[in-house]
Amino acid sequence: MLVDSFGRRMETLRLSVTDRCNFRCRYCMPPEGLPWIPTARYISFDQIETVARAFLELGGSKLRVTGGEPLLRPGIEDLVQRLSRLPGLHSLGITTNGSMLKAKAKDLWDAGLRSMNISFDSLNPCKFEWISLSNSFAAVWDGLHEALRLGFKIKINTVVLKGITEREVVDLVELATRHHIEIRFIEFMPLCGTGWRPELGFPIQTIREWIEARWSLRAIPRGSAPAQSYHIEGTSARVGFIASLSEPFCDRCSRIRMSADGIIRPCLFSKMGTDIKPYLN
Ligand code: 5AD
Ligand code: SF4
Repeated sequence: MLVDSFGRRMETLRLSVTDRCNFRCRYCMPPEGLPWIPTARYISFDQIETVARAFLELGGSKLRVTGGEPLLRPGIEDLVQRLSRLPGLHSLGITTNGSMLKAKAKDLWDAGLRSMNISFDSLNPCKFEWISLSNSFAAVWDGLHEALRLGFKIKINTVVLKGITEREVVDLVELATRHHIEIRFIEFMPLCGTGWRPELGFPIQTIREWIEARWSLRAIPRGSAPAQSYHIEGTSARVGFIASLSEPFCDRCSRIRMSADGIIRPCLFSKMGTDIKPYLN
């Protein structure tokens, strides 16, 4: 087992395959984008597979492909296919903004992917596009439905923004109940690149209270998951809350991450990193 110096067992390896994105969500990136990693520095699919294989051999069991927007990385379905076949793998997921899913979901399914997390912040096209600085509401909506049609296990990730989308909380949970999926509300986190905009943060406890006023929730044992999730009684849907700031779960964290250029980081908030490229080469 991979155990860190705090005694936490590392279960999940999050593989960022690109730092680029076709969206500019206000809580994630500035409109002009970030100083992108030059693509020449990206590690190859062979190298990603080597790291993933080693992680699973060392006792890890879950892999997640992330970005930026991971579907922007050319040939992503080939990488997914390689990863999905690795011995010792218990779960493989991808975290996507959904804008390219209409075209790519079938190829990802055929490559062996069965679950994905889709970011979706508003049911209102104008607000969605204001938040993400994209004109992709319809593309994401169609992509989500295509993924549902194919039978993917889907979790929706929503960051509620104060004064903008808090009135949609109940409608978003209803979307999840209609499609028998999970929706997770994520607390706005101060990540580098965006600057911290506390005025946009909306208290997750209030979101929970509103949902509990309407539905009965039954807690699901949490383990090391970042979300505390609940069955929504009378439905087959679930709701989860990721309260990274107000109810930090760092003591139970079981994830390590690798950037598109092969830097392993113990934490999303960490400036510390280990360049794995020399070892791979
Ligand atoms: N705070 C909270 N959530 C964020 N995400 C991206 N940036 C932030 C932030 N600053 C979310 C995205 C995506 C998930 C992986 O992380 O909405 O759904
Ligand atoms: Fe960031 Fe995801 Fe929005 Fe892209 S879609 S800008 S990676 S939060």
